[in-house]
This record gives sequence, structure tokens and C-alpha cells, in this order.
Amino acid sequence: MPLTNKIALVTGAASGIGRAIARNLADAGATVAVVDRNAEGAADAVQAIEAAGGKAVAFAADLGDAAAILQLRDDVVEQLALPDVIVNAAGFDRVEPFLNNDDALWTALVTVNYLGPVRLCHAFLTPIVAAEKTVKIINIASDAGRVGSMGETVYAGTKGALIAFTKSLAREMARYKINVNCVCPGPTDTPLFDTLPEKIRAGLEKAIPFRRLGTPEEVASGVRFFATADSDFVTGQVLSVSGGLTMAG
Ligand SMILES: NC(=O)c1ccc[n+]([C@@H]2O[C@H](COP(=O)([O-])OP(=O)(O)OC[C@H]3O[C@@H](n4cnc5c(N)ncnc54)[C@H](O)[C@@H]3O)[C@@H](O)[C@H]2O)c1
Repeated sequence: MPLTNKIALVTGAASGIGRAIARNLADAGATVAVVDRNAEGAADAVQAIEAAGGKAVAFAADLGDAAAILQLRDDVVEQLALPDVIVNAAGFDRVEPFLNNDDALWTALVTVNYLGPVRLCHAFLTPIVAAEKTVKIINIASDAGRVGSMGETVYAGTKGALIAFTKSLAREMARYKINVNCVCPGPTDTPLFDTLPEKIRAGLEKAIPFRRLGTPEEVASGVRFFATADSDFVTGQVLSVSGGLTMAG
């Protein structure tokens, strides 16, 4: 299996896309650090992986908290090891017109969706580079970050920032043979998508050339490519898994 003896850390792994990624990487042989602020959901995801014959350990952490990320790093190193794969999938959204937004929403979106991956990458890359190890980093952004999305203005901004961060970090990390890539889901059938108003959900589905939502497993397949040696010469790239919703050059 392509990830045998590898440690993969996946955030947001209690639910939806992160959970499917954790399962996919465990199926590929990795021992998965299942990270989420939802401790019960993380434990449930670990159970499901173990029931399928895989290996996983749950870590509860609020990725909106800088100190909690450093603690998470120390806990993962102590219980497993420095990861060989890091997937930043945790994130949230609240759809409403920009003019109805409040400052608390903007702060939370930037803190969790953008600074969360930034801080987590910094926390782990410092000891990984010092130890002359490598890691494959995959950030889960969104097609909203490539082409914009009504009612998700600041969410889209955090995802656009995550895409630019991915490309810049890829340039800085190349000298260490560290790959940094980005997967952009389009509308995907998860609990997060269910929180969108029905009118918006229907409109998004209609806009997808394949005329259906993506599945979390389809996003996970894209992530798996970036997690294995198959993508050793690929870095700073953005892959949309969105049924053709965006076809950016
Ligand atoms: N579902 C979609 O249509 C869609 C489209 C594009 C991008 N995305 C992105 O994919 C990722 C996963 O989304 P999903 O649809 O699976 O959502 P989800 O709500 O099903 O899962 C998100 C997970 O992240 C966790 N999480 C959120 N904030 C956290 C925090 N501060 N600390 C720790 N864990 C936290 C949640 O507890 C949850 O388990 C997100 O980054 C999202 O922006 C989703």
C-alpha cells in the first residue's frame, strides 16, 4: 500500500470531507491522526477506520486557538511521530449577504479557515525541517476561492488566501523537497453543504456541468494523489474536484 508506515494528520476529520480523507489515507496504509474540535466525532471516525482494518488515533483540538495547535503538535509527536502527510481540511462557512455580516464572523473565518492551516503548517514544519524530514502538505480550499461565491464573500477570501499561501509555501519549501498542494472542492454533499439555504444549494447544483454534487470520497481521491509518491514532482498546484464548476487555467 502506498502509505504503509506513514503517519498522516488530517484536520476536520470528524465529519464530511476530512473524515473521508482520513478513511482514504488509512485504507492506503497510513496511521491517521484524526484531528477535530468535535472529540466525539473524531472518536467515531477512528472507530470506523479501525472497523475497516485501519489504524488511527483521535486528537481533540480547536484549530482557532494558536496555543492549542502547538499542544496538538506536541501530542501528535509524542503519541505517533512527526507526520509524513498533513491535510488541512477543517473549516466552516456561514452563508448570508456581505452587508449582513458582522465583525465576529469575519474574525472567526480568518482565524479558523486561514490562520488555522498557517499556524499548523508552521508548528509542524519547524521540527520537520530541523530533522531534515519531508512531508506532503495538502490544503483544502474551495472553488469559492478561485472564482468567488455569492453570500460567501469573506469565506471565499479565506480560501483564496489559502490558495496563495499554498503556492508561496510550496516555493519556500521546495529546497527541502517538501510538496505543498491544494484541493478545491466544489459543492460537496456534507453536513456543511446542508447548512446552505435550499435556493443556494439548488443554484449551485445547476451550475455544475455534471449536474450533481461531489461526494467527500471524490475529494479524498484527489487528496490521495497529492499524499503519495505519485505526486513527488508536483508542488504549488490547485486541483478542483467540482464536476467542472470551475475550469481555471
Ligand atoms: N462541503 C462543501 O460543499 C465544500 C465546498 C468547498 C470547500 N469545502 C471545504 O472542505 C472542508 C471540509 O468541509 P465539510 O463540507 O466536510 O464540512 P463539515 O462541517 O462536514 O466538516 C468540517 C469539520 O471541521 C471541524 N472544524 C471546524 N472548525 C474547527 C476548529 N476550529 N477546530 C477543529 N475542527 C474544526 C468540524 O468540527 C467538522 O468536523 C472545509 O475546509 C470546507 O471549507 C467544503
